Amino acid sequence: MIALGIETSCDETAVGLVEKARKILGHSMVSSVAFHRRYGGVVPEIACRHHAELVTYCLEDALRQAGVPPSEVGLVAVTYGPGLPGALLVGLAAAKSLSFAWKVPLLGVNHLHAHLYAALMTHEPASWPKRSIGLVISGGHTALVKLKGISGHQILGQTRDDAVGEAFDKVAKLLGLGYPGGPEIEKMAPQGDPRRMKFSIPKIKSGTPWDFSFSGVKTAVLRRVEEARRTGEFGPVFAADMAASFQDFVVEEILSKSISACRTTRSRALLAGGGVAANLFLRGRLQEACRAEKIKLYLPAPLLTTDNAAMVAGLGCTLYAREGARSQLSLAAEPNLGMR
Ligand code: KG4
Ligand code: ZN
Repeated sequence: MIALGIETSCDETAVGLVEKARKILGHSMVSSVAFHRRYGGVVPEIACRHHAELVTYCLEDALRQAGVPPSEVGLVAVTYGPGLPGALLVGLAAAKSLSFAWKVPLLGVNHLHAHLYAALMTHEPASWPKRSIGLVISGGHTALVKLKGISGHQILGQTRDDAVGEAFDKVAKLLGLGYPGGPEIEKMAPQGDPRRMKFSIPKIKSGTPWDFSFSGVKTAVLRRVEEARRTGEFGPVFAADMAASFQDFVVEEILSKSISACRTTRSRALLAGGGVAANLFLRGRLQEACRAEKIKLYLPAPLLTTDNAAMVAGLGCTLYAREGARSQLSLAAEPNLGMR
């Protein structure tokens, strides 16, 4: 079956066509990131306007790439949360219109589940591994979950404050780098000394051993940057050392908690997804650690780390084929939808 996916939860407008839950036939994505840059973060109104302007273009582009007529599409899957309310509504309106006009089922997909499915889609076979841990690391979310089949997850830990991608973005801004900050920090880090700045491991009083906290390291960077600007120490060397030290610290935090979650739950597989999973340093460290622990690591192909619609179509296809899942045309946006 061919599924069409639509993704408009944040600043990427995307439409994808996927066959048998994993073969990407068409993949169109346009980001409005350039229009948010001068504000240092995503401006919801700007994102919504771009989605409304671009969704038809992406649809036509994806269908053209795939070379399939709409009559061959058997499912329309769409991200219904979490995300920016107005942005989600644009995707939902487009998906409902297509489902109604083409007379094919509609299915709302959880964006966070789709990020994890992206890791699975990249590997053969695309079956949900037994006893596995999911790691979601994006601009809006950070979570470690025990995967219970394709759509059931038990949350082991989440961030208590900033999401990891958000921390990358905020630290990059403090260093005077561009937005989004993750790729900027990654680019700068190899020129710096990761041992120069020391950060303390956050003490999380309540919660689980797998909860994350990134506000402490962010504040430590802020204080250090303020001091360096006062003393004249701030410059390219300082910024590179800070980028390297910050990236190293955050990657070790993610790594140690992920491996600890796998060990405690005796899980033999780790699936990672979300924009931060594009970070090559993180990918390398995860690969090393998982090899040493004999844990099978599933990382998404770079194209599927950031927000995209192929992962939405892929997950939708699997849920529909396996569980007969489908949504009504009354499907509402759920901006605060969690991992569940
Ligand atoms: O998954 P995503 O595209 O959107 C959300 O669902 O939030 O993630 C975007 C986040 C941004 O915060 C961005 O800075 C971060 O992913 N990111 C990275 C890298 N590429 C994107 N963070 C670290 N290293 C990267 N290479
Ligand atoms: Zn995302």
